[in-house]
Amino acid sequence: MSTMLNELVARLQRNVVDGQPDRDEQPMRVPASAYADPDQYRREIDRIFLKSPVMVALVAELRDAGDYVAYDLAGRPLLIVRGDDGVIRAFLNICRHRGPKVTDAVCGSARRFTCPYHSWSYDTTGNLVGVPGRETFGEIDVTGLIELPSAVVAGAVFAVLDPDGDLDAGGWLAGMEDSLSELRLNEYYPYRVPTFIDSPNWKLAADGYLDGYHIGYLHRNTIGTRSITNRNTYDFFGPHVRIGFASKLTPDFDPAAADIDYKDYLSLVHYVFPNVSLSGGHGDTLMMSRLLPGPTPDRSTTLQFQFYREPIVDEMVDVAEQKRQLYEQVVADEDCATIFQVGEALPAMGDRHFIFGRNEPANQHLHRTIASMLGGSA
Ligand SMILES: [Fe+2]
Repeated sequence: MSTMLNELVARLQRNVVDGQPDRDEQPMRVPASAYADPDQYRREIDRIFLKSPVMVALVAELRDAGDYVAYDLAGRPLLIVRGDDGVIRAFLNICRHRGPKVTDAVCGSARRFTCPYHSWSYDTTGNLVGVPGRETFGEIDVTGLIELPSAVVAGAVFAVLDPDGDLDAGGWLAGMEDSLSELRLNEYYPYRVPTFIDSPNWKLAADGYLDGYHIGYLHRNTIGTRSITNRNTYDFFGPHVRIGFASKLTPDFDPAAADIDYKDYLSLVHYVFPNVSLSGGHGDTLMMSRLLPGPTPDRSTTLQFQFYREPIVDEMVDVAEQKRQLYEQVVADEDCATIFQVGEALPAMGDRHFIFGRNEPANQHLHRTIASMLGGSA
């Protein structure tokens, strides 16, 4: 029996009985301009996204040599790949000759990565291994792709997007690695069909992922039917948050019973700051959402992948595809349609503020974290 899940389910039950979630000390104001100000957005990119360790991939996405994921984050094209030597590395997806991407795909498996422009090619460890007409070219003073500092912790790959940056993934996780380890992330298999969803300012999207209060309202006809709204647990690990959602818990439920199937009674979201939400994971499925800010302050993209405990083959393909479409619809038609309205309301709000309640402590934590990383206070 998992002590972590046992304690969480007991806390959730207490919240259900008490009629309230874990709460912050008081409500918090956030100026509407914080979501629109181009100068603040620039500082968020420079000081948060380009300086912090980011969870750029799961080991489960990179099970075999040559497996890779590639996407753009904060203006940096990323390529994360498991080499033929078994080592996972993070690179800038930029050909060292003249700069195009060496792969256009979001995920896949490859022996070589070849630039479309002049067919320079790189192996799975990033080494430059092919230059057509090399004898005509002259001296080449680079040996391979630009590598980013990276490390694997708790089944996830962390990287710093600045090649000269420092990476201390363990210190950055501030204790969340124990909770992530309980998800056994490296035992998952990916459904390698990405979902891209247009979203407004990245913090509006992040606010949604950190918000246990809206589930029973905005999602009342879809994913909100499973959980008891506004009774969440919130745990903070440095800038990161774990949210517990209660389902089916009643006052006479015994959280210490030996035969509990925890996935019937709680679900979890691990929000790994600044931009990754891992939903579920302690049971049989996991949904990963990456928030990719930009290219302008009013835009971001949500990139989602589903994971399962078994390879996605045969009849599992239909199951995974149906679930992918459900979550695409929920996030696009419910979450993003709503927060796009918020984005469009920002000019009309002028210098007024939005309010996060005591029952929205993870949102408060997000905005306090951002303010402190930008060198101010919320
Ligand atoms: Fe939502």
